[in-house]
Amino acid sequence: MSYYQVKNLEQYFKHYNKSIREPRKFWERIADENFTWYQKWDKVVEFDMQEANIKWFLNAKVNITKNCIDRHLAKRGDKTAIIFEPNNPAEEAQHITYNELYDRVCKMANVLRDQGIKKGDRVCIYLPMIPELAVAVLACARIGAIHSVVFAGFSASAVTSRINDSGCKMVITSDGGFRGNKTIELKSIIDEALQKCETVEKVLVVKRTGSEVKMKEGRDIWLQPLLDEAMANNVAEIMDAEDPLFILYTSGSTGKPKGMLHTTAGYMVYSAYTFKNIFAYEENDVYWCTADIGWITGHSYIVYGPLLNGATTVIFEGIPSYPDFGRFWEVIDKHKVTQFYTAPTAIRSLAKENWEWVDKYDLSTLKVIGSVGEPINEEAWHWYNDHVGKKKSPIVDTWWQTETGGIMISPLPFVTPTKPTYATLPLPGVQPVLMDEKRNEIEGNQVVGSLCIKFPWPGMARSIWGDHQRFKETYFSTFPGKYFTGDGALRDEVGYYRITGRVDDVVIVSGHNLGTAPIEDAINEHPAVAESAIVGFPHDVKGNALYGFIILKESGEGRDRENLKKEINEHISSHIGPIAKLDKIQFVSGLPKTRSGKIMRRILRKIAEGDFSNFGDTTTLLNPEIVEEIKEGKL
Ligand code: WTA
Repeated sequence: MSYYQVKNLEQYFKHYNKSIREPRKFWERIADENFTWYQKWDKVVEFDMQEANIKWFLNAKVNITKNCIDRHLAKRGDKTAIIFEPNNPAEEAQHITYNELYDRVCKMANVLRDQGIKKGDRVCIYLPMIPELAVAVLACARIGAIHSVVFAGFSASAVTSRINDSGCKMVITSDGGFRGNKTIELKSIIDEALQKCETVEKVLVVKRTGSEVKMKEGRDIWLQPLLDEAMANNVAEIMDAEDPLFILYTSGSTGKPKGMLHTTAGYMVYSAYTFKNIFAYEENDVYWCTADIGWITGHSYIVYGPLLNGATTVIFEGIPSYPDFGRFWEVIDKHKVTQFYTAPTAIRSLAKENWEWVDKYDLSTLKVIGSVGEPINEEAWHWYNDHVGKKKSPIVDTWWQTETGGIMISPLPFVTPTKPTYATLPLPGVQPVLMDEKRNEIEGNQVVGSLCIKFPWPGMARSIWGDHQRFKETYFSTFPGKYFTGDGALRDEVGYYRITGRVDDVVIVSGHNLGTAPIEDAINEHPAVAESAIVGFPHDVKGNALYGFIILKESGEGRDRENLKKEINEHISSHIGPIAKLDKIQFVSGLPKTRSGKIMRRILRKIAEGDFSNFGDTTTLLNPEIVEEIKEGKL
């Protein structure tokens, strides 16, 4: 019996029980039967969850791109690996076969090597959603360079801090990118970012928009002429199972970016296995995930997971509302998409428009539709189910994180009965537990608690780049010996999980994780600002929006408030990115603080939500009178 694919509920329980009783045998079997290795492992897993040391497939040797590309060539050389759908529907789509992908990745890998990149070097990739982005990622993996993809919506200073944190030697970018009716000048953002970076030696530039760019001599090189000269084959680097594959930054509770480090073999096995099962992938399917490759969803479920399974994966450059609100549905119709994976914020924004935008197109090819990034509310779930899935394509509400590498809790289509707003059951190999405030495991059903995972899984992050101590403290110390997700969850009467949201200082806005600390740091840099506190509040489309409580310095008191608000948002935009802008800014004379000086965010959160009913215990506050003032000034 193969464990690679779960076909019905009975089999799910069988596989699940096996994966708990004998996790080593379970994962060994999957790794053994479904991948190409230079050399197999000596031991399946070794771990110490107290110290946050985890290793999978010890001493195995592998290259993930051989598994994504080379091994498919004999059978699937002429099959389409990537469909590129440009921002502008008038521009022709590209179909890139596995043979062509092989050539392009090899050429790019050779260029990287020629330009001095070696195994272990860090390469920052700052590109729009064009095929070169996937090719650059794979070319790094081919030669063992560690890719750090930075979402091309981040500002120059956010790029600077990410490049410096991991000491990137190279940046791969483009002249610009198309987004709806806008052009984003990516190269000039990189020029600005690099003014404060010492480690970058070379910048490779893809031509996409034709925008005029400055090329710095000795540093900046147009990529295409180099590719034209490069050879279309390349001997892949032999990687150890635990050699780093990539770094991907995510928000944390301090201003410093948190570079999650993923390694090679475990990530490969986990992203492939989860893709196959969660999307019920079959050979001739056309799979489309609308995320950006700059986020983990794009890494695992646009690039690696689909290609590892020899699938056809769509890369979409545009946005859901351009040139009109039918764009997503038009693309599904045009490319006969069978699996569609998007975010609740996109669903909510499209559900506000007339449903005729959807009904105009033929969506009958769809088999499975998915959701990721934040809780999906009941209304959006039903709209998605009725209008997109037509009540026949199951919705997979997939819960996971940058840190988990792949999907952890999700229905399996045609296997797990779905329930609106529930991520339902853990995947085989995943052992979720709910913890109470006293740090005890909560047994039984119909309970709520902090969501932890008590046994390692192959796809989990291994560390934070350059700061293992922080990795241990953030994820393995709150509940010693367990991985703490930062999310709260409930378990219903049949054992289904529903994720209720973050229990820490991260707010999810339009599916993007935003740590409140880095935003506060940015605001506090404004010369008129003395102190600030950011919380989230519910928003119809974005899920959450940001509400800022700001104390001005004396020197700022006399300033025009509307102008100040604008300046503060511009400052946030240039320090982090437009996604982190505040929807509401309230100037206050003080913030509720405990005697130890900590801001009581719980109170601010309730005020921002407009819930003045029960503030809980305020007796520990240093300045209880401030609460009234803030309530009165609520926006
Ligand atoms: C949230 C995205 C509810 C959660 C893959 C998690 C979700 C954070 C869901 C990770 C879901 C993700 N239901 N909440 N289906 N999926 N989340 O690192 O709070 O960008 O901790 O990874 O998103 O966000 P990240």
